[in-house]
Amino acid sequence: MTDTATSSFPDGFTWGTATAAHQIEGGNWNNDWWQFEHTAGSGTKEPSGDACDSWHRWDEDIDLVARYHLDNYRFSLEWSRIEPEDGEWSTASLDHYARICDTLIERGIDPVVTFHHFTTPRWLADRGGWEHADTPARFAEFAEKAAAHLGADRMVRACTINEPNVVAFVGYLLGAFPPGASDLGRMRKVNDAFIRAHRLSVDAIRTAAPGVPVGLTLSMAEWQAVDGGEAMLEELRHDHEDVFLAATGGDDFIGVQTYSRTRVGPKGGLGGAEGVPLLPMGYEFWPQALETTIRYAAEKTGLPVYVTENGCGTDDDDQRIDYVHQALEGVLRCLADGIDVRGYTYWSLLDNFEWAFGYGPRFGLTSVDRTTFLRTPKLSAEWFGEVARTNALVDVPEPR
Ligand code: GCO
Repeated sequence: MTDTATSSFPDGFTWGTATAAHQIEGGNWNNDWWQFEHTAGSGTKEPSGDACDSWHRWDEDIDLVARYHLDNYRFSLEWSRIEPEDGEWSTASLDHYARICDTLIERGIDPVVTFHHFTTPRWLADRGGWEHADTPARFAEFAEKAAAHLGADRMVRACTINEPNVVAFVGYLLGAFPPGASDLGRMRKVNDAFIRAHRLSVDAIRTAAPGVPVGLTLSMAEWQAVDGGEAMLEELRHDHEDVFLAATGGDDFIGVQTYSRTRVGPKGGLGGAEGVPLLPMGYEFWPQALETTIRYAAEKTGLPVYVTENGCGTDDDDQRIDYVHQALEGVLRCLADGIDVRGYTYWSLLDNFEWAFGYGPRFGLTSVDRTTFLRTPKLSAEWFGEVARTNALVDVPEPR
């Protein structure tokens, strides 16, 4: 049972859900990810294909957001559709995203726009992608163009780059995202490029759409040292989080995106601890991580915090509800301690293309039939909708 005295969120606390273009639109053949999915040996489980066909069914997606009583929807712009070749701009694609914003606003839902969510146009990737010296400036140019087209009235918040730390780490060190490299030096160089791109694009978006709050959305974990792993933990966290948190000075908010915990021994990252369930993503079920990371991000940046992603990839919808319930208890504890947390965004609205894992892990509040694209709300959507509607942590439903 939840203690009702502490279960309410403050007035104005925002509730949302998130998606990303490549994970839901389908047919995004003109970016580096599509190319990677079709590269032998890349390790990607299956290609994204038609995804959720949201390029055509975006209005059905908005119906779901409304049905779940959410007040904002975070989605991303696909750069390869907007600038399909070097310097060629697609007005039709910009209009498409403007229509999504307009329809959300008509339905009373605030658009939260992400300008880069993992994918990069092929023309840019082919000439070196994030390792090419001009790419940060090219990204800022894209951001300025897109922000000007949408305009300040169509965005309630702007997120520059989604999880640049994941793109750099998984793409340039683990080799499981494009370009499939394993080189610490290259990873650090790409970290620097993303930091520069973030700073330039904050200015670009502010110029093109004055007054829209702009921030970075960072992948964060609860870091725990095991058996003397403290020094190693500091070293890893420096590259993965601290360099990015240090680069947010002057931003309007920090977007915290948290899924689990990372245990570190003296030689590096360890697997899960005994007795802690593992999720299909291979990491621990560890909803406590959200509280830890909100505290860390707030302390390091001094900025207002939005939870721009948190969620659970599982086939067990009760486990999803349990995860979010526990995570939100942590948010309430942060609020009680006076930390400026302004909203919570569940990842994701739909079961969708989970990058290298293909369509295996299911994060959605809504299941999507892979052939008909029929959307079916899960019990977790009903429960989370009640949380949003009442602005309070309602109890977990009785087991069915
Ligand atoms: C991420 C992502 C999403 C993932 C989610 C679940 O930013 O990592 O924004 O694309 O699907 O995190 O793994």
